[in-house]
Amino acid sequence: MGERLLIKNGLLVDHATSQLADIYIEDGVIQEIGILEKDCPIIDATNMTVMPAFVDLHVHLRDPGFTYKEDLVSGSAAAVAGGYTTVNLMANTKPIISTLADAKDVVERMAEIGICDAYQCMSFTRSFDGKDLSHLNELEMDQEQQFIKFISDDGFGIRHGGIFYQGLEKCTELDRIVMIHAEDHDFSAIDMGMAEDLETARDCYVAEKVNGKIHFCHVSTKFSAETIIAAKQRGVPVTFEVTPHHLALTNDVTYKVHPPLRTEEDRQFLIDCIRNNWVDAIATDHAPHSVEDKEKGSPGMVGLETAFSVCYTALVKKEGIPMQKLSALMSKIPANLMRINKGEIAVGVTADLVIVDTEQEIVIQSDALHSKSKNTPFDGQKYFGKVIKTIKAGEIVFSRTL
Ligand code: DOR
Repeated sequence: MGERLLIKNGLLVDHATSQLADIYIEDGVIQEIGILEKDCPIIDATNMTVMPAFVDLHVHLRDPGFTYKEDLVSGSAAAVAGGYTTVNLMANTKPIISTLADAKDVVERMAEIGICDAYQCMSFTRSFDGKDLSHLNELEMDQEQQFIKFISDDGFGIRHGGIFYQGLEKCTELDRIVMIHAEDHDFSAIDMGMAEDLETARDCYVAEKVNGKIHFCHVSTKFSAETIIAAKQRGVPVTFEVTPHHLALTNDVTYKVHPPLRTEEDRQFLIDCIRNNWVDAIATDHAPHSVEDKEKGSPGMVGLETAFSVCYTALVKKEGIPMQKLSALMSKIPANLMRINKGEIAVGVTADLVIVDTEQEIVIQSDALHSKSKNTPFDGQKYFGKVIKTIKAGEIVFSRTL
């Protein structure tokens, strides 16, 4: 008999259910749910909420190449401290990840650390050169999608529409979703809203022609969200994520991030999109930077350790959005997009869980983050919801004192 664990008396919440019950885990898999008595190690989750661990589609762990900002060890620690046990890593490292061997190296090093599973994006064009698609053939050697689930040129929008068309055809043949950081760089210096909206419109159009799966990262404007919704309504296989910072903050706050913090109208529209089930995922765009790099203008913020508190407070507490919906956006739908057997509390599913205390008010303290970088606009802010324990395949990988 393998490792066993009983989680007792928690309020179990996933995308579909909310019930007071116990969870019995054996061999890393949920075996029983109900009112249970077992002779094995027990976690008492009285007055706590037990959710599927979070799955983040959009994370920068900066390894290889920029490990002074973050590395796989500090990044894993940050992930589990935030309740995440699966992360999808962006390719803007040094070298840029354009080969299966480089992707495999990152995924295997994460597996060795062992507390958080990772998949690695492969770049859409080789080394983000905007032209060369030949490296995508290597995906044939990763048929089972063991290492690479998504293809993305990340912070670089795909400048040439024709290259985007050809690459999307190829990724579609190879059964991969293309993740898009929509930013037409010809417009970045003119208007960052136009930059996002123009690429979003073009890419929805091309995806419709190709019938190719695309996923929009960090959608931040009303226009872009409306454009994607219209495409969804026409049956285009398009999905999108929003970030905790675009849900909680507006451009009243001065903090550099791409895409930028937007207006209250944009923010409210994104929340309405969540209410109306248009949004597919909340993803952090965890973007660690050193103090010096931030001073020099690097965009982005760390997000893994603050996402749950920020989203729980901004959506559930303030807007009355049901916890099940938050769970769907942070676990179930991203897990489905990644085709992993995680993201819900059900018999037969991998026992990746997070125990949270939704009653506790916390003050976010950047110094206390596990991430190597402390760049967060949430420093000193009060939020509700505290991650108490993170469990991966039935093993406790993070524990915080109450
Ligand atoms: O603000 C951002 N920073 N947005 C991105 O999309 C990239 C990220 C980074 O890599 O720093």
